[in-house]
Amino acid sequence: MASLPLQDRVAIVTGSSRGIGREIALHLASLGARLVINYTSNANQADSVAAEINNNQTTPRAITVRADVSDPDGVKSLFDSAEKTFNSPVHILVNSAGVLDAEYPTIANTSVESFDRIINVNARGAFLCAKEAANRLKRGGGGRIILLTSSQVAALKPGFGAYTASKAAVEAMTKILAKELKGTGITANCVAPGPIATEMFFHGKTEETVKKTEEESPFGRIGETKEISPVVGFLATDSAEWVNGQIIRVNGGYV
Ligand SMILES: NC(=O)c1ccc[n+]([C@@H]2O[C@H](COP(=O)([O-])OP(=O)(O)OC[C@H]3O[C@@H](n4cnc5c(N)ncnc54)[C@H](OP(=O)(O)O)[C@@H]3O)[C@@H](O)[C@H]2O)c1
Repeated sequence: MASLPLQDRVAIVTGSSRGIGREIALHLASLGARLVINYTSNANQADSVAAEINNNQTTPRAITVRADVSDPDGVKSLFDSAEKTFNSPVHILVNSAGVLDAEYPTIANTSVESFDRIINVNARGAFLCAKEAANRLKRGGGGRIILLTSSQVAALKPGFGAYTASKAAVEAMTKILAKELKGTGITANCVAPGPIATEMFFHGKTEETVKKTEEESPFGRIGETKEISPVVGFLATDSAEWVNGQIIRVNGGYV
């Protein structure tokens, strides 16, 4: 039987207890990868993702690790746990952990606390994950850094000021990182979804706002998590080596 494209590679997916990260973790597992499922608050949700991957396996192929991506020690612990459990270097880092302000404030109305929280988790978190990955991912082929950003960086909609700024910072950093990783065989890319049906998307939105967003799409609907995971899956494979330093917007033509 031919082996799977990510057979036994080790992948960390931050923020994979639910939403887009969860779907990415399940998809990478279906391609053969062993997984670290990361979360901050809801252990039960993370456990259920790991249980789905470990179903009928004699040795565990997924573990859960509670860690805040904005905490340097937390991010280190993701790599430590992966290396120790799977007795292998980490091959793939996907950073999907993220937050936004569900009040969708204008910049004039964004509190300093909200701005700091968003920058802390989204930009500092992505930086810490990218930094650790740049130092610790497997060299010589198969190393992959994939950071989730947002199509808002291209759409530039009012109400997303701090969030969009945090993601724009990550996109700039990723392009530089790809060049800095010359000679390692590690690629660094961003996947930038448009509106996707998750708790993050629906939180704080009225039915009218959801309908308006649907109407803005050439497909007349919101995207689904399973429309993001195959793109991340492809970037994680050896076939994607020539895609490096890129921002891939996956949004059905929203922007
Ligand atoms: N949904 C969209 O429309 C959309 C569009 C464009 C881009 N994105 C981006 O895609 C990514 C995933 O979004 P989503 O919609 O799947 O979000 P979500 O449904 O709100 O899920 C967020 C995940 O991140 C985790 N998380 C939050 N803060 C964390 C932290 N400090 N450290 C570690 N984990 C943390 C959560 O874990 P706990 O539950 O344990 O807190 C959860 O697993 C985000 O980066 C988001 O900005 C989403």
